[in-house]
Formats: sequence, structure tokens, C-alpha cells
Amino acid sequence: MRSFAGRDILSLDGFERAEFEHVFAVADELEPIARRRRNVDLLADKTLVTAFYQPSTRTRLAHEAAMHRLGGHVLGFADPKMTRAGDFYQESIKDVVHMLEYYGDAMVMRHFQQGAPHEAARWASIPVINGGDGWGEHPTQVLTDLYTVQRELGAVDGLTFLAIGDMRMRTMHSLGHALTQFDARMIAVAPPEMSLTDEFKAQIAERNLTIEEVDHVADAIAEADVIYVEPVVQADYTASREERGGEVSTTADNYRITRELLLDAKPHAMILHSLPRMDELPPDVDATRHARYWQEAYYGVVMRMALLALVMGAME
Ligand code: CP
Repeated sequence: MRSFAGRDILSLDGFERAEFEHVFAVADELEPIARRRRNVDLLADKTLVTAFYQPSTRTRLAHEAAMHRLGGHVLGFADPKMTRAGDFYQESIKDVVHMLEYYGDAMVMRHFQQGAPHEAARWASIPVINGGDGWGEHPTQVLTDLYTVQRELGAVDGLTFLAIGDMRMRTMHSLGHALTQFDARMIAVAPPEMSLTDEFKAQIAERNLTIEEVDHVADAIAEADVIYVEPVVQADYTASREERGGEVSTTADNYRITRELLLDAKPHAMILHSLPRMDELPPDVDATRHARYWQEAYYGVVMRMALLALVMGAME
């Protein structure tokens, strides 16, 4: 297995099964620190730089929380408009990275351009973590999701994932790549204009994961062990900032998870949602036995603790 020390975390394409297992094992080791809310000094001599060109609640703050739990330091920006990258100068990724690499020991970047963190990694002398790039990937989110599944259901192998929502989303790409490394099944439900591309499906099929597609969640809910929900009504991920104007359209029943629908679900079936949500996941689902998205948010901190400790060389 490749060492994680100094490594970029840009994509789950090519992330191997043994690497998932190793990251999960390190997360297990560090999880009691988060549970006890007692910070330690594992990364006391390290600094994380955050470079967020798009809004974020969970990804940025979970990385920051993870650094604080491990005794490290954080600096960065949550809005490029407060930097020269977002004003008149529109500084290039290369120029920005050649500054940020001297300000810390690892960097997490979210960007509206697909591939921007890869471009950053090309020039940075420190590890770069992809915090979500356009319609590209969201590797730390899906590592969090599969870790949540392992903690809640004991394993990823043998499970059927029902993925609902916009299949162009970066989480869906990372999920497809990740599931090729497990003995898992994936069923997708998406509006036709938001479906997986033939190219992506072919790439995944080459690695022994054939993604099945159905038109309505009701057609597959009874088979699902993991109900993986994302919106079909959402911001354009390729835009640097979107001000919502006027009425937002509502989600068709084909792509909504409701309490009524969950009457047909397996008793142990768990719902994940990376959040934020729209009306595809009504708040009254929160009180069902299936909801696991708050646990997912908690494990999001634990997973970032594991990744930061690994890429900064504090854990083997
Ligand atoms: N899950 C997730 O990516 O949320 P944020 O956009 O708030 O970071």
C-alpha cells in the first residue's frame, strides 16, 4: 500500500481497498478523541491552510474541527472575494498556491472548477486535499460516508446502495469509484437530464461495478441497505457564487424519501445525505430509525482527523 505521508487526496479513482481499510482503521483509533471532546497534541506543530472558493459549512469546518481536536492550527479563507484570487487581479491557482504552501503543512481546497485542486497539487510542495471540485469529486465526503456505513452496519461488503438525486454531483462520482473496491451493488435514480454519463458507467463497469438504473425510488427502496440521497434542486456547482432568485422548484416524488416510502424499507436500511438538503428529505424523516446523516456529520470530523494525521505524517 502506498504511504499516505505527504500524499494528495484528490480523487477516489484509484483509491484501493487496502487504503480504505487503512483509513478506516486510523479513524477508529482517533474516534475516541472526538467522542470525549478532549483535544490532543498529535498535530501541535502543524498548520492546515483552507482555500475555499465556494461556500461550505461541513467540509471546511469539519477539517478545522479535526485540526483543533488534534491540537493543530488553521488559517485560510472561506471566500475568494476577500483575496486577490477573487478581486481585480484574479490570481491564478499556481500563484496562490506558491504563497499558501509557505503558510502551512497541508491544504484543503474547494473550487467551482473541476480539477482546480489537482492543479494546486501540481504546484504545491505540501499535500492538497480536494474539498469538492465543480462536478468532479468529493473524496473526503465519500470516505466519511463509507466509514459511517462501516460503523453503523459493520461492513460495506454485501450491501446495496440506492443512490438518489443528481448523478452529476461530485459525491456520486466519488461513490461510484469507491464502490468498485467493495463487494457492493449500486442502483441509481435520477432525472434523465441528471443521469450518469455512459462514459462514467463504462469506466466503473470495467472495475466490476455495474450501476443499475430505475425511474422511481419506490422501485428499489425495498432492496436498499444504504439510501444515499442528494438533491435534484440545487445550486450550479460550476458557479463561483449563486444568489438564489425567485421560486425554487420542488422535487418530484421519484427522487424524494418520505416516511410513507420508508415503510417498505429494510429495518436496518440507513439514510445518508451529505447536506444541505432541500425537499428531497423532509425533516420528519429525521425521527425515523433510518436517519444517519447526523452521525455522518460526526464521522465527518473523525474522517478528517484520520486523513490529516495521515497526510501530515503523524500516523502511519
Ligand atoms: N457535505 C458538504 O460538502 O457540505 P458543505 O457544502 O457544507 O461543505
